[in-house]
Amino acid sequence: MGYQEAYEKLEKYGQLHVLKYYEELSGYEKEELLSQIGNTDFEMLGQCSRKEELNPRGRITPIEVMQLPEIEQKREEYTKTGLDAIRAGKVGAVLLAGGMGTRLGSDAPKGVYDIGLTKEVFIFQRLVENLMDVVRQAEAWIPLYIMTSDKNHEATTAFFKEKNYFGYNPDYVTFFMQDMAPASDYNGKVYMEEKWKMSTSPNGNGGWFLSMVKWGVVDKIREAGVEWLNVFAVDNVLQRIADPCFVGATIATDSAVGAKVVRKNAPDEKVGAVCLEDGRPSIVEYYEMTEELMDAKDEQGEPAYNFGVILNYLFREKDLEEIVARKLPLHIVEKKIPYLDENGMLIKPDSPNGYKFEQLVLDMIHELDSCLPYEVVRNYEFAPIKNKTGIDSVESARQLCRENGIEL
Ligand code: UTP
Repeated sequence: MGYQEAYEKLEKYGQLHVLKYYEELSGYEKEELLSQIGNTDFEMLGQCSRKEELNPRGRITPIEVMQLPEIEQKREEYTKTGLDAIRAGKVGAVLLAGGMGTRLGSDAPKGVYDIGLTKEVFIFQRLVENLMDVVRQAEAWIPLYIMTSDKNHEATTAFFKEKNYFGYNPDYVTFFMQDMAPASDYNGKVYMEEKWKMSTSPNGNGGWFLSMVKWGVVDKIREAGVEWLNVFAVDNVLQRIADPCFVGATIATDSAVGAKVVRKNAPDEKVGAVCLEDGRPSIVEYYEMTEELMDAKDEQGEPAYNFGVILNYLFREKDLEEIVARKLPLHIVEKKIPYLDENGMLIKPDSPNGYKFEQLVLDMIHELDSCLPYEVVRNYEFAPIKNKTGIDSVESARQLCRENGIEL
């Protein structure tokens, strides 16, 4: 994009401050900045003034969950169906590792965090070890697709190489990068992180499939005959990945998506709860849970919204293309964003100072016709690491690993 065009684009969106240092930039820096302006969607920044009205909810009602007793009864049958699909190469795993992990407070990718006490136990290593259990059981490699972002791609790929993929077969590992979105102050003015570069952050975990399309990974998947994608978060060090019983249950019930859920430990626990919204599967976020929803009971007299998602979903690939063509809702989230102050000094704030713009994988559920919420045993499969200490932390995950006999 040329200077004049860039100027006009910025003027249209009230972002002319981006060119403040343009005259002092080198030829290379000028080019980089103009190209970044050309590639940036500034439209979304304007949404922050009406962020409360952005995603109106429909009528929330309970959804049926496949609970542990039913799963136990059918475990053998589902496991066989799942293993057959895995052996036929129909199941892939997608690790969402593009996030910044800011709450953990490390600049490195979250997966390289070492939770070991007497030896090294990296988060990525735990996930690969969990997946290897199924590889051994099925006697078949499972393609593993790893999403990174501009902020952590080099570090992530180098780490896997250095660690020899923790014993995984590199022929079955594919990296791809997600897109970035501009980050702004509270008035929607984009921050600068260099005189020649606007502040950006990964555009949320909802863009994973579109990024797979962009990177040509979806073509590869189709060629290979992969029909199901088990999408999972980087931070749950206990989760079962490509779990044959879960795969089998989702296939057997002909669901467009399976969602692993855990029984909530309190009505206001900070996890999204599975539900129906206007009759379609959906997830109501913890901050959207009203007193009424928290008190609601189902026909058995149990809390009606008692199952929380753990970011482990099994998507039917053929249903995804149509979804990504439609736009997922935009979420505007308060974050700490490094920025240049008026004197051109880089500031790394200690508390939130603006907005990130994200799309979320959980919004994909509402776009699909059917969803199987599938209960898993909480202490056996859910040890998320969001913080260093306290709830959902390195400490709590270590405790849960110990309970499950994992040496640290
Ligand atoms: P989180 O919601 O925990 O976000 O991501 P985060 O950015 O990693 O952490 P904080 O909020 O800054 O502390 C849940 C999952 O989604 C992935 C993360 O890597 C994690 O596996 N994710 C998140 C992405 O892949 N891309 C994103 O843009 C955001």
